[in-house]
Amino acid sequence: MPGVYRPQEDSFLLAHALREAGGARDARVLDFCTGTGFLAVTAAQLGAASVTAVDIAPRAVLTARLNARTRGLPVRVLRGGLDAATRTGPFDVVLSNPPYVPHDGGPADPRWDAGPDGRCVLDPLCDELPNLLSSNGFALIVHSGFSGVDVTLDRLRSGGLKAAVVARQNIPFGPVLQSRARYLQHVQLADPDATNEEVVVIRADRTRNDCAPDEE
Ligand SMILES: C[S@@+](CC[C@H](N)C(=O)[O-])C[C@H]1O[C@@H](n2cnc3c(N)ncnc32)[C@H](O)[C@@H]1O
Repeated sequence: MPGVYRPQEDSFLLAHALREAGGARDARVLDFCTGTGFLAVTAAQLGAASVTAVDIAPRAVLTARLNARTRGLPVRVLRGGLDAATRTGPFDVVLSNPPYVPHDGGPADPRWDAGPDGRCVLDPLCDELPNLLSSNGFALIVHSGFSGVDVTLDRLRSGGLKAAVVARQNIPFGPVLQSRARYLQHVQLADPDATNEEVVVIRADRTRNDCAPDEE
């Protein structure tokens, strides 16, 4: 549908990381910020036991429902934010390609714009992940190197998760980043001559605490 984020390099890098990681088969999977449902559909095709997809945009919800239904895949698509995800967890695998582009204060597009540092969806997601994940669950989150990779790693680790970068890809600036280049330079997130961004996938693992009561 027009106005819904079309899957692109970041979506494909995350789907590739999911295949590499294994773990989707028989898992309860959450695709947070699902857009067209591309990652939710990928997880269902990999044999997930259940897939829940969440997006704040009504058009994205409709598109994801349609994409799952036309493929005959059982994906539950919910409209909402983190609260909707938390209400329906826990999940064995959490996938997210959230909006993460640093935004200069002009009209914002919720498909990719995410506040002055690109973290207005990422930070709450990192903080909520321990509550979203089952006891041996893991998450794969994709974002730009301009949006604070170390901030994500630190935030996940302070929530008690193990966290590491598991995939990286250098891609040329698309139209959105081209329009943001001056802002990124102004706030010293990018070098003046930058024409490429590094997109990274971060994996976070909730390791079992044998002393804790089973939450499921
Ligand atoms: C970068 S797109 C990713 C789409 C898809 N996951 C993919 O990889 O192709 C981000 C999506 O997040 C949604 N979104 C933005 N803010 C959100 C929020 N607070 N909660 C849930 N979804 C949100 C947008 O509507 C958009 O569909």
